[in-house]
Amino acid sequence: RKTITIGLLGMGTVGTSVVKILTENANDISQKVGIPVNIKKIMVRQLDKTRNIDVDAEFTTTIDDIINDPDIDIIVEVMGGMNPTKDYIVQALIAGKHVVTANKDVVAKYGQEIFEAADKSKVDFLFEASVAGGIPIIRPLKQCLAANKISEVMGIINGTTNYMLTKMANEGLDFNSVLSEAQAKGYAEADPTADVGGFDAARKIAILASIAFGSRVSIDDVYIEGITTISTEDITYAKELGYVIKLLAIAKDDERGIDVRVHPAFIPAKHPLASVHDVFNAIYIKGDAVGETMFYGRGAGGMPTASAVVSDIIDVARNITHNANSRILCTCFSQKSFCPVQN
Ligand code: NDP
Ligand code: HSE
Repeated sequence: RKTITIGLLGMGTVGTSVVKILTENANDISQKVGIPVNIKKIMVRQLDKTRNIDVDAEFTTTIDDIINDPDIDIIVEVMGGMNPTKDYIVQALIAGKHVVTANKDVVAKYGQEIFEAADKSKVDFLFEASVAGGIPIIRPLKQCLAANKISEVMGIINGTTNYMLTKMANEGLDFNSVLSEAQAKGYAEADPTADVGGFDAARKIAILASIAFGSRVSIDDVYIEGITTISTEDITYAKELGYVIKLLAIAKDDERGIDVRVHPAFIPAKHPLASVHDVFNAIYIKGDAVGETMFYGRGAGGMPTASAVVSDIIDVARNITHNANSRILCTCFSQKSFCPVQN
């Protein structure tokens, strides 16, 4: 084998940055993997759209062109949405392709089915970018904190709403204009209702809670309240009282069971979460051995998200070149621990 070959699904905000990192850091990545990592094919919706990056790859609108290409080792899914994306991911895994994704919608809803398909085909399925953009959180939770019994995961895990609340508080801008800004910056989902309605944060906290507590938490288990009813006046009053308003995601596991929630909350202005601004996210994890840990960084945007995607690609590529795999990462919570209730 002389190269690792990628088929990319989607070249929007995140896909373009994936291409940029793979191109600009090609030498470093090649050294880390042992051989070059190249993109051979890219699937998009519109072939005639002007792209603001040059890439030496073949464009297609047909998934079979990618899944049936024997040269392609890793399929990188950054097209988003649930349908037909989930089917493409499962088909790719069944065809023996490793898959890397940034898609929390699909992981939160179909995680178990996808992990089982990956396990059956003995391929990797990695999804670090699906929660909190560029912040390393999935792997730390699954691996570095594995010694702990985790009792709480809590924080700000939607960049769009945090950007909006920050701008509303600091610049007095209204809801719709700050939402448009977040969309223009590439932070928001294709349907921004997912962000402002709290559903994006709910999908992410469901993924984190499932991993943290070793118990399948679905989006239906999450109490969800977004920021659609928050006005600039609410934020101003909160400020006068010494608080900031943040959209929090909270998952707790105690003697009463698992409780998972997303809702706006008043945070005392001196609390560390109050100074998490703009597109930044912050997540606290409480473990019985480690105590409290905090993860902080950019939670959305092309380059931070692509940082996580490309790191997953490098992991899979190393596994391929070393004939190893990360499947333990998937199977450890796809079967017994991901779904103890059903099993
Ligand atoms: P964009 O809307 O910017 O890009 C989507 C890309 O996928 C486009 O290139 C589009 O093609 C292509 N595409 C969409 N549907 C299809 C289809 N049915 N067939 C073929 N191609 C299709 O999305 P983002 O890059 O912002 O997001 C991608 C994924 O990453 C989503 O799952 C999102 O939740 C996730 N994510 C995004 C983050 C962000 O900050 N943006 C952060 C973390 C995760 P075309 O270009 O022709 O329109
Ligand atoms: N729309 C999401 C956000 C993208 O704003 O956090 C990152 O998952």
